[in-house]
Amino acid sequence: MARKLTVLEVLLIVFIIIILALDILLLLLVLENPSDRPVCPEIPESERIDCAPGQVVTEAVCRWQHKCCWKPGSDADVPTCFFPRNWGFTAQLKRLSSPSLFGYDIVDTLFTAEYQTANRFHFKITDFNNMRYEVPHENIQLFNETVDTSNLSYHIEVTHIPFSIKIMRTSNKRVLLDTSIGPLLFAQQYLQLSFRLPSANVYGLGEHVHQQYRHNMTWKTWPIFTRDATPTEGMNNLYGAHTFFLCLEDTSGSSFGVFLLNSNAMEVTLQPAPAITYRTTGGILDFYVFLGNTPEQVVQEYLELVGRPFLPSYWSLGFQLSRRNYGGINGLKEVVARNRAAGIPYDVQYSDIDYMDGKKDFTIDEEAFPGLSNFIKDLHSNGMKYVIAVNPGISNNSDYLPYVNGTKKRVWILDDNGFVTGQGYPGWTVFPDYSNPICTEWWTEEFSEFHKTLEFDGVWIVSCYSR
Ligand SMILES: *[C@@H]1O[C@H](CO)[C@@H](O)[C@H](O)[C@H]1NC(C)=O
Ligand SMILES: *[C@@H]1O[C@H](CO)[C@@H](O)[C@H](O)[C@H]1NC(C)=O
Ligand SMILES: *[C@@H]1O[C@H](CO)[C@@H](O)[C@H](O)[C@H]1NC(C)=O
Ligand SMILES: *[C@@H]1O[C@H](CO)[C@@H](O)[C@H](O)[C@H]1NC(C)=O
Ligand SMILES: *[C@@H]1O[C@H](CO)[C@@H](O)[C@H](O)[C@H]1NC(C)=O
Repeated sequence: MARKLTVLEVLLIVFIIIILALDILLLLLVLENPSDRPVCPEIPESERIDCAPGQVVTEAVCRWQHKCCWKPGSDADVPTCFFPRNWGFTAQLKRLSSPSLFGYDIVDTLFTAEYQTANRFHFKITDFNNMRYEVPHENIQLFNETVDTSNLSYHIEVTHIPFSIKIMRTSNKRVLLDTSIGPLLFAQQYLQLSFRLPSANVYGLGEHVHQQYRHNMTWKTWPIFTRDATPTEGMNNLYGAHTFFLCLEDTSGSSFGVFLLNSNAMEVTLQPAPAITYRTTGGILDFYVFLGNTPEQVVQEYLELVGRPFLPSYWSLGFQLSRRNYGGINGLKEVVARNRAAGIPYDVQYSDIDYMDGKKDFTIDEEAFPGLSNFIKDLHSNGMKYVIAVNPGISNNSDYLPYVNGTKKRVWILDDNGFVTGQGYPGWTVFPDYSNPICTEWWTEEFSEFHKTLEFDGVWIVSCYSR
């Protein structure tokens, strides 16, 4: 049976909590607006941070409107209009406990940093006065642990005018990240930060198509904004978004990783300094830095934070066959029979959206696919598995039960005018709001119900929109 805590015990607990809070919050900085006149010393071409990305500007606009430096480069990739060294915020160091921090006198940006573990450093730049969108994430919670700061594998240095931060490896004093190469930009829909890197061995980011695993650091800008597009050369917005990169420092394997927790449309620029610039269109700048003795260790640290991938079923790693329009049930049967007859290893067969009635989820086109369910039983008796395509865009037809049931539970994404509608595969659609737990309930029910009709083994969740 629980006993009541004594006053002394309560005080002790409160005291411990305060100590922990002070330990976690290393420092808070209030960053003030930029200074007025650009200082344009000789900045090597490889270190120029583009002041007008994607634009063609005149010298006058560059110098007088953007307050940046102007000097044509030796080739077309090198920015002509680039940030001066003194562009950015200045920082005032404030203790968390300082009461003036919560006054209204200082408008601007807030820098928060945490020593999270011996190998993980977190820093965040937010609007000091207003709430901004932050990515909700089930794995990344408020950090409550205390860390033994006597044994960090890194240390940091903050410069105040203009604001910049350096992160160094303790063991060899190597500077891993240095933001002083570029400015900090923090506008409503334009946030930017650059890092000078210790080596050009940069991996990750994406998803993109490029011919080599290691990134080419010769002035490459990659967008990160997901869309339904097949991975072909020159197609840079693909299905996945990975705002993480890994930098291999030297031949010993020492590496570190950087992760930006931000889900807005963004781009990254890689340049020969070597340096990387993140530019995002919203949210906040929320960076995690992971140090490791090997690249594997860095990836482990990263996954420790964001969550590990699920362990897929063994069969899902097997040989799979998928396309749109096999030509109804007979075409599908022929393909399966032909492959089986030829002795081709073959574990999984798919059906794309043409198995559906009017391209609506949880339906079967009974005319084109009569007896589909029996055919799937036959696949199973041959040791094979079957996967169906499903789209998140749900037809808003008032006779369509998944829509009717979802509407009762109000699981669709809303705007000021009610449920948001758009054109999807089945025509007008609504969009399930998967961040709503009731929606997950509805989605699961629909699958269980449909599974009684068709014994699929997996689902391939495609995109909302038709093209
Ligand atoms: C932090 O504390 C909250 C409340 O006590 C708890 O729910 C949460 O799991 C903790 N998070 C971590 C990362 O330990
Ligand atoms: C401190 O870090 C070093 C190197 O990472 C490690 O060998 C040592 O065990 C750590 N000491 C403590 C007290 O954690
Ligand atoms: C990197 O990109 C540049 C510019 O597009 C190109 O000239 C160069 O060959 C590329 N380097 C490698 C190693 O692919
Ligand atoms: C479906 O959405 C379209 C477009 O917003 C709308 O015109 C139509 O009335 C909707 N259908 C139903 C049944 O709500
Ligand atoms: C949707 O609602 C109908 C009518 O209430 C019900 O028969 C059906 O089972 C429901 N479907 C699901 C997937 O819950």
